[in-house]
Amino acid sequence: MPESSNDKAVTIEALMTEQRTFAPSDAFRAQANLNSESVYAEGEDYVNFWENEARHIQWRSPWTQVLDWSNPPFAKWYVGAKLNVTESCLDRHLADKGDKVAYYFEGEPGDTRVLTYRDLYHEVNKLANGLESLGVTKGDRVAIYMGMVPELPISLLAVARLGAVHSVVFGGFSADALRDRINDSAAKVLITCDESWRNGGRIALKQYADNALGETPSIEKVVVVQRTGADIPMVEGRDIYYHDLVDDMSDEKAATETDSEDPLYILYTSGTTAKPKGILHTTGGYLVGASFTHRNVFDIKDDDIWWCTADIGWVTGHSYIVYGPLANGSTGVLYEGVPNFPDKDRFWRIVEKYKVTQFYTAPTTIRTFMKWGTEFPERCDLSSLKLIGTVGEPINPEAWIWYNEHIGRGNCPIVDTWWQTETGHIMISPLPGITTTKPGSATKPLPGIGADIVDDDGNSVPLGGGGYLTLTHPWPGMLRTIYGDPNRYVDVYWSRFSKPAEGKWVYFAGDGAKRDEDGYFWLLGRVDDVMNVSGHRISTLEVESALVDHPSVAEAAVVGRMDATTGQAIAAFVTLKGHVVGDDALLGELREHVAVKIGKIARPASIVFTDELPKTRSGKIMRRLLRDISEKRQLGDVTTLANADVVKEIAEKAQAASSRENSQE
Ligand code: WTA
Repeated sequence: MPESSNDKAVTIEALMTEQRTFAPSDAFRAQANLNSESVYAEGEDYVNFWENEARHIQWRSPWTQVLDWSNPPFAKWYVGAKLNVTESCLDRHLADKGDKVAYYFEGEPGDTRVLTYRDLYHEVNKLANGLESLGVTKGDRVAIYMGMVPELPISLLAVARLGAVHSVVFGGFSADALRDRINDSAAKVLITCDESWRNGGRIALKQYADNALGETPSIEKVVVVQRTGADIPMVEGRDIYYHDLVDDMSDEKAATETDSEDPLYILYTSGTTAKPKGILHTTGGYLVGASFTHRNVFDIKDDDIWWCTADIGWVTGHSYIVYGPLANGSTGVLYEGVPNFPDKDRFWRIVEKYKVTQFYTAPTTIRTFMKWGTEFPERCDLSSLKLIGTVGEPINPEAWIWYNEHIGRGNCPIVDTWWQTETGHIMISPLPGITTTKPGSATKPLPGIGADIVDDDGNSVPLGGGGYLTLTHPWPGMLRTIYGDPNRYVDVYWSRFSKPAEGKWVYFAGDGAKRDEDGYFWLLGRVDDVMNVSGHRISTLEVESALVDHPSVAEAAVVGRMDATTGQAIAAFVTLKGHVVGDDALLGELREHVAVKIGKIARPASIVFTDELPKTRSGKIMRRLLRDISEKRQLGDVTTLANADVVKEIAEKAQAASSRENSQE
């Protein structure tokens, strides 16, 4: 495993020059959905390409124009077309796939449930009727805060059936985070669970929700799924159990017609400020993009068993557990819990049990399995697997090779897929029947997608060079705006490299990347103040503002440092107020405080107390220096600092903190 980012960079460099490649086998190529290079040429006329792909979706009435880009960066796809996404995902499958399994649900405690497309259709209709009875109508926002149970995808679809807008908040977020997201979108109804199962324990979702609901004036009703059956307080007139709501409802519900550009969902993601951004996705283009990429990147066939291990609380679950697979009429596994309950072989037991054919997970999970050892996958029969994929962060070549050997058993193409909450669907990835892969590279933009790597001035860098990853033209699943803040949308994504006077609009993804001599893209991580911890985006500012919110903290600086398992780990540097003593008890308290403000995923791995933070003479905190300290790099010239002496002291404390951390592991 790489010890530091320097080692990792060297490894990538070595691999880039070594050019170890994996071509698709003749057998795989022959049966693949896409197996001719010509699809890339077709994708060059991207408007025409995406018009052709739209035939895979069920529309009520067609568009008058494929793409309206007359008011950039505000795009409209399939202009004027009407549809309801649930008709593509459910109704149209009833005729010939009504008895086909939509979801195999595997509860963490071992309970199971099988939902056919017909079952799912009826469940969605019942809940849609129930939500309508609570006053939900087209355009209303519904917040969803649940564990991974069947009622979760059912909730998304029921909201969509009414033409309403869902805003899923990951069940690992805290009450405060839930409150802020509910308030930003002014959601009318919240759907939650009594509790959820996690690692053999219970997460008190309804209790967290109750804490949030004291300060969410827009919420009128709360629907509660009974998962564990815990005895929880229900507020008279506001709270209703899911089963009580749907039991007497009809299982038929006509879908509400929506415009292709009506909003489908809001999903919050971290940016470079303390306030998360509500990424807004609309209907027609999103479904076309999710369906195309699911079918072709994962080479889905009618009798395949698909499993994406993400949580529906993240975009990966939205696109590749709910909308893409259901639009394609696929059978998928929905697993509630963690990979190591009751034992570290749980994922592989599930692959064996359901004969999973395509498996999609995150590099951090793969690295965790590497740490646990090969005995766990070796216990299970993984021969059903045909293809395996990754998403969420750069995959280091060592993990890629391990995944290939121990999970793919040397005969599954690996698709390393680059995309973001904002892009809605996969953008850069191999096509498994066409692309020769290189471990650590997401390879090339998909057909119909334009990407480039540019320098500080926005000029395309030559092959072999590195810079910023940009997207060069609109695509169907692109975010349409930041909810309630169009200026921020323009500013964050489109201002850095666009040249409006020349009519040039370029999307800036926030990622650094290199391109090798063959034109392959190598993603190198975020170039902004966003960390990527276990594939989850967390902003340094969000964690800093949670820390300074604590009464003992005067100032805080947070950086992401390389971590062999989680990709990055959160390292915090904290200056305390007055005579407060920075002891272990306070350290624990601060970590807990961040968990309460944001969620456990944002808890700093290390906190160093320091009398001062390193600052430039103009008073800017030198985060880059703190990152160098955290990653034990040789420190450059610090003489430009206002307080150079403090650096040595911080470096010594960081060293001590990291050896404490290691000895705890
Ligand atoms: C990172 C997850 C390298 C990247 C779908 C991006 C990746 C951010 C990859 C988006 C990959 C995602 N290789 N980096 N294959 N996939 N990323 O919004 O930094 O949670 O900007 O979407 O994850 O994270 P998000």
